[in-house]
Amino acid sequence: MARIISPSMLSADFGHLDRDTRMIDRSAAEWIHIDVMDGVFVPNISFGFPVMKAIRQASPKFMDTHLMIVEPERYVKRFAEAGADLITVHIEATNQIETCLQLIRESGAKVGVSIKPATPVSRIETLLSQLDLVLIMSVEPGFGGQSFIEGSTEKVRELRRMIDRGGYDTLIEIDGGVSASNARELFDAGCDVLVAGSAVFRAADPENEILKMLHA
Ligand code: DX5
Ligand code: ZN
Repeated sequence: MARIISPSMLSADFGHLDRDTRMIDRSAAEWIHIDVMDGVFVPNISFGFPVMKAIRQASPKFMDTHLMIVEPERYVKRFAEAGADLITVHIEATNQIETCLQLIRESGAKVGVSIKPATPVSRIETLLSQLDLVLIMSVEPGFGGQSFIEGSTEKVRELRRMIDRGGYDTLIEIDGGVSASNARELFDAGCDVLVAGSAVFRAADPENEILKMLHA
């Protein structure tokens, strides 16, 4: 199974975005997590295309784009043009999920779907054959620095069983409250990709923190 760390740029210092992106580029993290928030799907607004383009210029690493926006189908193409390698949309944010997935596929990006803490994994079961990744939110989406919601690990195990049973190669990613102290448990439960914002950027030595998560 894959073991990938995807540092969330939401916790970076935007006054030194280039420096922070280059640090991630040098690190053992394979992916870079991009949190896009619209102030409607979540009660917060983060950043959009120009910032993504700046990150893309500072690193060629895999851009893991997490859209916390309503009607994401309206913007899929532009996120792909801004450099997204994977586009993950929330199942709760659209009533046109099939259209959305098709647009992502047509854009050339990998296809992801995310579920909020209260959404059961059964909600995405019929989509699994079309998905490169499922993102399980382990905090309410909207802000970095929150505590991990414990029941999330059980959702990972349930999804792992579903994926293995169906013989899919869908990756499992988890996002929210992840650090070196729970990384081991999450990989063991079946996660392939761990997102970490504050744990990485608030560490005294972020590159070492990434290594600690990777080898937890
Ligand atoms: C929250 C975002 C997360 C966030 C994680 O809505 O999706 O990616 O940046 O931050 P930490 O790792 O600090 O919980
Ligand atoms: Zn995220």
